[in-house]
Amino acid sequence: MKRILVATDKPFAKVAVDGIRKEVEAAGYELALLEKYGEKAKLLEAVKEADALIIRSDVVDAEVLDAARQLKIVVRAGAGYDNVDLAAATAHNVCVMNTPGQNSNAVAELAFGLMVMAVRNFYNGTSGTELKGKKLGIHAYGNVGRNVARIAKGFGMEIYAYDAFCPKEVMEKDGVKALDSAEELYATCQVVSLHIPATAETRNSIGYDLVGKMPKGGLLVNTARKEVIDEAGLLKLMEERTDLKYVTDIMPVNHAGFSQLEGRYFSTPKKMGAQTAEANINAGIAAAKQIVGYFTEGCEKFRVNAKL
Ligand code: 3PG
Repeated sequence: MKRILVATDKPFAKVAVDGIRKEVEAAGYELALLEKYGEKAKLLEAVKEADALIIRSDVVDAEVLDAARQLKIVVRAGAGYDNVDLAAATAHNVCVMNTPGQNSNAVAELAFGLMVMAVRNFYNGTSGTELKGKKLGIHAYGNVGRNVARIAKGFGMEIYAYDAFCPKEVMEKDGVKALDSAEELYATCQVVSLHIPATAETRNSIGYDLVGKMPKGGLLVNTARKEVIDEAGLLKLMEERTDLKYVTDIMPVNHAGFSQLEGRYFSTPKKMGAQTAEANINAGIAAAKQIVGYFTEGCEKFRVNAKL
């Protein structure tokens, strides 16, 4: 009998685990659960018997793949798969998939939660400002970016986006003004919401020069990845420009340094963007279905790594 391991250091809502179990058991497989494991050693032990693995931001590197002798497939229940060593997975003949779009509304809603909090001065009792009428820049127009645009319309924001890989017509069709460069986006918008993945090209790409183009009172919102921020550059800029604010769902390595910027910085203690029952159910059950489809029909629709 195939063993499907759900290894989530940040657990899914119980209702999502119940849904995953239903899918797995209906296919005649067995579900194993490893939650809040903390140390990697526990993951290395649990993966030994697994034929398939469902993860979130859990790190799957060569060491984990070496330990997982029976493993055929890893599904990242979510969008970003920068936590999985794709080359090592290919070398181990393991298929890696993600579940695009399944948690994007949850992340987009949190971006607005952070935005409102920031423009209301973190609820400190002073008069803040409103999102209505402000220029919002969506940096990368993927699944989350599109949901951000949809919600921004309800707030009455003027919406701009830059995405090197998305055709302009897709954005314009949504009523979003497509710009030609990231520089133009930051120079135009009072609020910029980041939705770029962490890749070799984007790492440390958001820093002093780019954010420094923002108009007075600029607000940077990060529900993407901490790795895309050049922390030293952003901090230096924010020390020089006391009008800028930074709110993030991914705590910077230098949280202590950013915390000195009193009233202009906030980080959630743990990444919470996708942490809703709905997103957990959508992404978790999609992951389980993709595993069943892979084993029963060889379906590789959402594969993200190369084949051996
Ligand atoms: C994603 O890439 O899907 C989001 O960042 C959510 O990550 P999480 O599942 O670790 O909350």
